[in-house]
Amino acid sequence: TFVVTDNCIKCKYTDCVLVCPVDAFFEGPNFLAIDPVICIDCALCVPECPADAIYQDTELPVDQIEYLALNEQLSQKWPNITKLKPVPVDADEWNGVKDKLHLLER
Ligand code: SF4
Ligand code: F3S
Repeated sequence: TFVVTDNCIKCKYTDCVLVCPVDAFFEGPNFLAIDPVICIDCALCVPECPADAIYQDTELPVDQIEYLALNEQLSQKWPNITKLKPVPVDADEWNGVKDKLHLLER
């Protein structure tokens, strides 16, 4: 599966959802999660993310490992998203800020 990681938090550009052929993305207040059961490992979403937040599970940086379980959990409770949403006004300011997990709204 592919995994949305820390840098999506408060960036949430949503470009990723437009290219997913199986609608595997689920939307929280300030983050998206991929359902690992739905994801077919096509990798199309990776280059679409302006925050470079999406990785294959096997290539997750060590400090992003916890996002594997988080995507699995949060995708189960959040609604599906398939359309582009307005980008948060301060998204570009948060792009690249490290360790945003404490800012994740669930
Ligand atoms: Fe969707 Fe492909 Fe990304 Fe998986 S890797 S979430 S199937 S676009
Ligand atoms: Fe997040 Fe990147 Fe998609 S910032 S919403 S994973 S385009």
